[in-house]
Amino acid sequence: MENRFGRIGIVLAAAGSAVGLGNIWKFPYMIGENGGGAFLIVYILCILVFGVPVMSAEFYAGREGMKRWPWLKHLMVLSTTLFFGFYTVVMGWCLEALGNSIGIHGIINEVWMLIGIVMTAAIEWAGVKKGIERTVKVMMPILFILLLVIGIRGLMMKGSWEGVRFLWEADFSKITPTLVLNAMGQCFFSLSIGVGALATYARYMQGEQNLPRTATEVICMDTAVAILAGMAIFPAVFALGMDPTEGPKLVFEVLPVVFDGMRGGEIIRVLFFLLLSTAALTSTISLMEVQTSYAEEQWGVKRHNGIAGASVAVFILAVAANHSTLMLNWMDLLVSNYLLPAGGLLFALYVGWRCDKNEVKQALLPYPTGQKVSLLLYNLIRWVVPPMIALIFMDGIGLL
Ligand code: PHE
Repeated sequence: MENRFGRIGIVLAAAGSAVGLGNIWKFPYMIGENGGGAFLIVYILCILVFGVPVMSAEFYAGREGMKRWPWLKHLMVLSTTLFFGFYTVVMGWCLEALGNSIGIHGIINEVWMLIGIVMTAAIEWAGVKKGIERTVKVMMPILFILLLVIGIRGLMMKGSWEGVRFLWEADFSKITPTLVLNAMGQCFFSLSIGVGALATYARYMQGEQNLPRTATEVICMDTAVAILAGMAIFPAVFALGMDPTEGPKLVFEVLPVVFDGMRGGEIIRVLFFLLLSTAALTSTISLMEVQTSYAEEQWGVKRHNGIAGASVAVFILAVAANHSTLMLNWMDLLVSNYLLPAGGLLFALYVGWRCDKNEVKQALLPYPTGQKVSLLLYNLIRWVVPPMIALIFMDGIGLL
């Protein structure tokens, strides 16, 4: 069927959604700001507890069509749109940095954002199979190779070992409720769970697609890319004596200086920002797909008109978000730390408490005789994920 992903297609499309600015832009600066290894450990714990259960739940809900809680779809399209607006601003920075690295200067932010949206819309325009699946099948391998090249180049620099230590050495005294909230937010952000992007992709899954296996594959790829990105960035930052706690501007302001100090740095710089822009693009297509398929399904809007409408809406929002740093930071905090985990919580509640128990357990089978694993996942979705998210929320905002 034309409008369905193949088995590998859906894994790569979901991995394309997951691997994005979250891994290469946000993860390094979050590690830098939150004291290195301590954050990494809590982050990995979050992935282990929430990753497979919540992602499988979101896939399940999407494939099932959220029939019993239709309002969930309205909520998701709203969070997606807000998230997309914020994401576009950062995507604009990436494209601008890419432009600068090949000698294009002096173009205003808004134009770069528009270029990002137009590229997203162009892929969407070609459809699920011909646009999305084809794009991710080409781009994901390129992305891995670029990251490896940059990582190996970073590790070859003198003094890079400090950076590796910073990434892996955990100082447990640095773990605070805020750090845990940040790590949970980062986990949902990076895995693309909680805004309905993966639920939307799941609509185009084959009926027999194995959910826990698909989730595990996507999570392994996403985590590998995040750690590789850390390994690519910190050694270089330390080798040149730069500050790892620079914040959101880390990859945009610190890295160009790092690249300038490297032999062959100009090429690495182009490759790096190409990598970042590519990663962003395979994520934004998953966001626009939420909007387009929603408009199609709920309002009967034709796909191409939906894409045009979504592009205009996101551009307006991005221009607004770009207006002030305060607004941008506020949007980032709101979506990352609250909206995404709250979305994940709703998916867990829906699948754990509202859907048919036997059907869910059947869909959670990792292999035909894996009843025990399926039961474990089901119980995690039902009993562990919702209270854990609620606890981390309350702790993070000082209610405990
Ligand atoms: N996971 C993407 C990233 O790491 C962001 C994203 C979140 C994309 C949710 C789609 C949906 O950059």
